[in-house]
Amino acid sequence: MASMSKPLFVTTALPYANGSFHIGHIMEYIQADIWVRFQRMQGREVHFVCADDAHGAPIMLKAESEGITPRQLVERIAAERPQYLDGFHIGFDHWHSTDSPENVELSQDIYRRLRAAGLIATRTIEQFYDPVKGMFLPDRYIRGECPKCSAKDQYGDSCEVCGAVYSPTELRNPTSTLTGATPVLRESEHYFFRLSDPRCVEFLREWALDGRLQPEVANKAREWLEGTPDAASTMADWDISRDEPYFGIPIPDAPGKYFYVWLDAPIGYLASLKAHCARRGLDFESFIKPDADVEQVHFIGKDIIYFHTLFWPATLKFAGYKVPDRIHVHGFITVSGEKMSKSRGTGISPLRYLELGMNPEWMRYYLAAKLNARVEDIDFNPDDFVARVNADLVGKLVNIASRCAGFLVKRFDGRLAGIDHGAHEGFAEPWSGPEAVAAHYQQREFGKAIREVMQFADAVNQYVDAERPWDLAKDPAREADLHRCCSTALRAFRDLVLLLAPVLPATAEKVRGFMNLPATDWAALASPLPEGHQINAYQHLLTRVDPKQLDALFDLAPTEAPAAATKVAAAKPAAKSGGPGAAVQASASASNSDNGLISIDDFTRVDLRIALIVAAEAVEGSDKLLRLTLDVGEGRLRNVFSGIKAWYQPEQLTGKLTVMVANLAPRKMKFGISEGMVLAASSDNDDGGVYLLDPWPGARPGMRVR
Ligand code: 2FM
Ligand code: ZN
Repeated sequence: MASMSKPLFVTTALPYANGSFHIGHIMEYIQADIWVRFQRMQGREVHFVCADDAHGAPIMLKAESEGITPRQLVERIAAERPQYLDGFHIGFDHWHSTDSPENVELSQDIYRRLRAAGLIATRTIEQFYDPVKGMFLPDRYIRGECPKCSAKDQYGDSCEVCGAVYSPTELRNPTSTLTGATPVLRESEHYFFRLSDPRCVEFLREWALDGRLQPEVANKAREWLEGTPDAASTMADWDISRDEPYFGIPIPDAPGKYFYVWLDAPIGYLASLKAHCARRGLDFESFIKPDADVEQVHFIGKDIIYFHTLFWPATLKFAGYKVPDRIHVHGFITVSGEKMSKSRGTGISPLRYLELGMNPEWMRYYLAAKLNARVEDIDFNPDDFVARVNADLVGKLVNIASRCAGFLVKRFDGRLAGIDHGAHEGFAEPWSGPEAVAAHYQQREFGKAIREVMQFADAVNQYVDAERPWDLAKDPAREADLHRCCSTALRAFRDLVLLLAPVLPATAEKVRGFMNLPATDWAALASPLPEGHQINAYQHLLTRVDPKQLDALFDLAPTEAPAAATKVAAAKPAAKSGGPGAAVQASASASNSDNGLISIDDFTRVDLRIALIVAAEAVEGSDKLLRLTLDVGEGRLRNVFSGIKAWYQPEQLTGKLTVMVANLAPRKMKFGISEGMVLAASSDNDDGGVYLLDPWPGARPGMRVR
């Protein structure tokens, strides 16, 4: 097992490069960043990297739907990343891409080595093929009737209604969500990693069950490797190839075949490390050779355990690379108990959080206080957030410095009095001390670390409350007591800030400035600031959270007006429905020039699509809105709120096609996130009703309207 002195190679899961970060990503990065900062404070060498997961069919198809190349899409998403990472003080050493020369070279090298080890097999398999699109269809792009309960419009792998799991070929009346065509079965040769080979199974049993994994993760791995009383082991060979067209890395000596994105994604960890090593002049080989003197740690979410505890270690082992030492798995984040959607995230937009000027250290502190080493979901609760941040960070931490630093600077030239050993030792009682806090950080029990630190802060505040420096300051005879009290409190404050520095790096840096501290390291906790140490004028550290900021974050302002989700306006006749004199205006996002006309470029910025209304329902608590579930041919469904309740019954709408603005920024409303806007016609004065657009027969979900 890894020793505490080896260099660390740490990663977080590589996010798909087809969407912005959501709060789930930010939580994982904050968790890993806190751990990394703690390691650095211990004096450990750490290499902390990540990258965009750039390949795969969804990225290829999304780029195509936007009329750009996959690389242009990936570049656009990559350009967004720094504002989030810098914004939340997440300090990766390097951010790379799986669509990089390093990753091509490493993936092909690993594949060749696996082939040489006899662990690659080829087999002809039958798969659904879209004859119109000319491509094999991943399961998520096939929909049809559930073979078990006959529910309509179910995904190719499982039924959302009865929960049945099946293969796409079992669906009744399957259709391709890309073109609406009926897919046909077609044969193709695929490449497999022979994970069922006894060498792999034997290695994985040893690797996964030797205590390196969290107990619940090891149990999962054991089920997969050894089966359960009810089900035999599910170790099957792993299909690692995809046929063109595919945005990915070509498989050597296999024309038209590409690595499945999950083969090259984790190799992206190494590609990013390689680029980092090149920039820093480090020897990459010394990190990846089988006996490398390095501890390799991956932070991931619970949804990708399978890939990281079976495929990834086996891939590395049999390609002759170093295997991971630890996989740190966390649960999901819910917001007010609401589950997160992988593509849409939750009700919190990390960017909006930052744009509202909310302090990133509030979020870091709040998440840290909730995080532990188990694979448990944690909940972001707005009221709890306000209460905890204000009580702990402002009421307990900052309060000590703001009550004592001023006296020290004004009355004692900023110099600390000698150490009051009695008081200092008194603070040691109510908590377990820095070693216990260090052990909690090391184990990723951040919530426990914070509880300990706050017990220490409580003791210091009780001391200040009892000494009453504001009263001492009024009595010239108590000058020495005032000096001693403020110096003691400030010394303890320095310790508190060091203990919280992995969580609050910017605050720790400010404190370092105003208290004239040397580097922020853990060892400093062993040496109290000496008599005569001089501090500068107190610098404002952290403000309180205003509950109104949370309202703004969740956009609880009145948003029920139909305009929020359905734009109804008058112009010239343009659509089949709506009647003469009524027509559609796409949205206000196309800019008006002086004469009221827009250019064709302005118009094409609005992505109008045919949408299938898969479901429609009333929204509890709203007398204007319907909640529409729309299929826009993306392999996922969208949620759109529309102010049309007065004009349509939900059952009239289900199964109908309409037109929507597909590239409208998602909008958080009181009842959830609205991901677009359906179009309807009405007269200028809104007195003749509202008419949803109804495309002519032949239009299919996802088709562009132009
Ligand atoms: O699930 C995901 O979001 C993947 N993009 C994670 C990849 S992690 C690693 F293997 F690259
Ligand atoms: Zn079903």
